Amino acid sequence: MAATASKTPSSLMLRNTSRKQSFLKPEPISVTLTAIRSTKPISISCSATAASATQIQDRPPFQNEQQDRVFNFAPGPATLPENVLLNAQSELYIWRGSGMSVMEMSHRGKDFLSIIRKAEADLRALLKIPENYAVLFLQGGATSQFAAVPLNLCQVDDTVDYVVTGSWGDKAFKEAQKYCKPKLIWSGKSEKYVNIPAFEGLVQSPDAKYLHICTNETIHGVEFKNYPVPKNPNGVLVADMSSNFCSKPVDVSKFGVIYAGAQKNVGPSGVTIVIIRKDLIGNAQDITPVMFDYKIHAENNSLYNTPPCYGIYMCGLVFEDLLEQGGLEEVEKKNKKKAELLYNAIDESKGFYRCPVEKSVRSLMNVPFTLEKSELEAEFIKEAAKEKMVQLKGHRSVGGMRASIYNAMPLAGVEKLVSFMKDFQARHA
Ligand SMILES: Cc1ncc(COP(=O)(O)O)c(C=O)c1O
Repeated sequence: MAATASKTPSSLMLRNTSRKQSFLKPEPISVTLTAIRSTKPISISCSATAASATQIQDRPPFQNEQQDRVFNFAPGPATLPENVLLNAQSELYIWRGSGMSVMEMSHRGKDFLSIIRKAEADLRALLKIPENYAVLFLQGGATSQFAAVPLNLCQVDDTVDYVVTGSWGDKAFKEAQKYCKPKLIWSGKSEKYVNIPAFEGLVQSPDAKYLHICTNETIHGVEFKNYPVPKNPNGVLVADMSSNFCSKPVDVSKFGVIYAGAQKNVGPSGVTIVIIRKDLIGNAQDITPVMFDYKIHAENNSLYNTPPCYGIYMCGLVFEDLLEQGGLEEVEKKNKKKAELLYNAIDESKGFYRCPVEKSVRSLMNVPFTLEKSELEAEFIKEAAKEKMVQLKGHRSVGGMRASIYNAMPLAGVEKLVSFMKDFQARHA
């Protein structure tokens, strides 16, 4: 028998339209179920007693107990702001009076349209994105952009330049070889990716359609502090900003294209953000798959096909949170403070810990370090995990340790790590 339950105890308890509020204990309530499709309309009245309320409470508790969370130093997917997670939790079941979760909404309905439009507006405000740039919320990860960039910005015989300061830039360069003629104008590989070249010394191709950089190499911990200018006046700078996106202010007008996977600083995996100067849209190679064509996505406001709706919603909550913190200037101050604390601990350890990256280009986001006594690294990671500091193992290609301290890593997390490092050193030096 199908029945409409206008008010069930659980729907009342779970429905929490006021955000930033945790779940309430159920009050005794009266419920009326009206049967439909029965020959004789019947009405059943019942009231939730203390006993039934207890039953509801027997369900596993909602996870809003902050003490259960670890400090997660993972490179991505990475830690998210606790208040954002709790907000999302409070409206997961029913989003703001819509009667459904964001996960269940039509991507073309007014509710989701309001979510994606606000996410875009907040991102524009955060990065002060000029009007002549489009913002696209896509899928496929930054890895898809390694192909989408050359497919959209040049033809097969066009030359483009790549400065490779780490493994991700190298992957982007290799992928571009399928779609145009990329030139490797600088690579830090022989020195194990610990620096960034002086821009004056770069020999750029005069006709390069674009110059590609990865502004923060997640594995090696190398970050651009300023940006090279393309030599070709008609060429543009293209940046993979996956691992330092929204970690500091950026002058977007210096770039033709910025792309980033969301899963480090701004949301869950599954959302890839592309910021592109509008006049660069509409020149894709004929072979470009429809899902890689910026024009298709720009013309359809990122709704050509079903977008990663829930991920976009989460990014929107993060953007809102970053604005509430005072914007990217404030966020950068916090990131600098955290990074300084950690690098100081490494540099002041008298060689017990070592960071191989040249000081002037050390990343504020990903801090790789090794132990002088490398045989102790496994022990370090094990002991840290016992102290609820996890995901400190370096990338398999470089070994050692890596602490990723993105926007959402609280200062307390870095302080705890530093204090652990000092203690570990005292015990093992
Ligand atoms: C700088 C950088 N670029 C690209 C990628 C690839 O991103 P995705 O796995 O989302 O394709 C990563 C992933 O960690 C990254 O750190």
